[in-house]
Amino acid sequence: MTTRLHRRQFLFLGMGSIATVLAGGAVVRSMQSSSRGSRPAGAARLSSSAGELELDLVAEARAGTIPGGPAKVLTYNGRSPGPLLEVNPGDRVLIHLQNRLNQPTNLHFHGLHIPPTGSADNVFLHVAPGGSTTYDFTIPSNHQAGLFYLHPHQHGVSADQVFGGLAGTLIVRGALDRIPEMAAASEHVLVLKDFASGSGNPGSAMGMGRMLGREGPLLTVNGALNPELSIASGGLLRLRLLNASNARIYRLALEGHTMQLIATDGGAIAKPELLEELLLAPGERADVLVQGNQRVGSYSLQALPSQPSGHMGMGAMGSPAGSGSTLATLRYSGAVKPLALPMALIPVPEMPAPERTRRFVMGHAMGGMGSHGMGMGFQINGASFDPNRIDTRVELGSTEDWVIVNNDVMDHPFHLHTNSFQIVNSSEQRPAPRAWKDTILLRAGQEATIRVSFQDFPGRTVYHCHNLDHEDLGLMGVLQIDGKPS
Ligand code: C2O
Ligand code: CU
Ligand code: CU
Repeated sequence: MTTRLHRRQFLFLGMGSIATVLAGGAVVRSMQSSSRGSRPAGAARLSSSAGELELDLVAEARAGTIPGGPAKVLTYNGRSPGPLLEVNPGDRVLIHLQNRLNQPTNLHFHGLHIPPTGSADNVFLHVAPGGSTTYDFTIPSNHQAGLFYLHPHQHGVSADQVFGGLAGTLIVRGALDRIPEMAAASEHVLVLKDFASGSGNPGSAMGMGRMLGREGPLLTVNGALNPELSIASGGLLRLRLLNASNARIYRLALEGHTMQLIATDGGAIAKPELLEELLLAPGERADVLVQGNQRVGSYSLQALPSQPSGHMGMGAMGSPAGSGSTLATLRYSGAVKPLALPMALIPVPEMPAPERTRRFVMGHAMGGMGSHGMGMGFQINGASFDPNRIDTRVELGSTEDWVIVNNDVMDHPFHLHTNSFQIVNSSEQRPAPRAWKDTILLRAGQEATIRVSFQDFPGRTVYHCHNLDHEDLGLMGVLQIDGKPS
């Protein structure tokens, strides 16, 4: 049965900008207003006001509170996941990151279309233990509405820090949220994250654990085990899902219900697409609508057993066996006049024709020396990550097709910083709608072609596997976007 949350925990879940009515009848809106003006370190949610969002973000180990979970969890402002940030296009964002960990860290704004340089989304910045730095950037006025992902990107320890608990979310509001049917829905951000059990070693795993990518047996949603979500009969629930796990691929289904996909990583699609289940690789986001059109009762949001790659069953290790695990429970409560699904969302423009095509082959060399000397090296086009080498140079203003090939026996979710792309060809069976993506799962042996335009921001950025153990072990390349800012 459902683990009932006490009120405090439940408040973290009800993160809608539209007032989310709790089971107890309270309304979350009060959380928002209390966070205005001051910068309370413990707030679960911080929204910009008067065109600015400024906050302190403290990275720190705290005693773990997940039943059966690790003794220590890495937190932002004492939370895992950290506070939900909410901004509008045109807003300035100032984040004062304080590193109270015992190793260097930094921040990456996964999916945000902002400069990869200076004090913006610059993953080449490092904050020493005890140090601090300020991230300062402006959300472009034409930025897509969407859910974005804050996480550390300190090469070599990214996986340790993310697996340990560091993650945060940032919502950019926009046209999608103003569609009347969307505005009428109750919104919840669901951060999906697996944790090691208390008996497991939460520290830096070695050998095969890192090679496969660490997965933990405790499947949490917003840091809780099996939290409850309420839906009214006739109501509409908007679930904004983020896979903030290190390596786990989620195959999600909602018992008794279908889902309507409305947005992918980088923003809305043109119209809702019916889904029976949803595959979400690390770093990916999906926004779905659920209609409260079933018999009153409780239904589980399930993580079904992920289909492992055909070879050697790798990638399935650590996954719970059997019919699936319950991540959260949807409980009917109350009734409203039936809310309709939106007919149309936001058109996704066709990309300009590509000027050139490149090929990126992901794999690993057994017995080769990785950058960590552990007898394995993950590579793109035969090279492991070197921050001082530029692997790919593109022109500002150009459009390219990138053929991403997974030549490996393991799954690799490929991720590109700074610019979202569209998938133009993939070995997947189902044709997908045109959509903005920044992460694409390539199962062992698969390949796909993505199309990306480098329109706005020159500078040095990266692409990598979002199984963060693989990234730390070298599956990352440096992209230089050449040109002058306009
Ligand atoms: Cu979410 Cu470079 O990563
Ligand atoms: Cu990223
Ligand atoms: Cu990988």
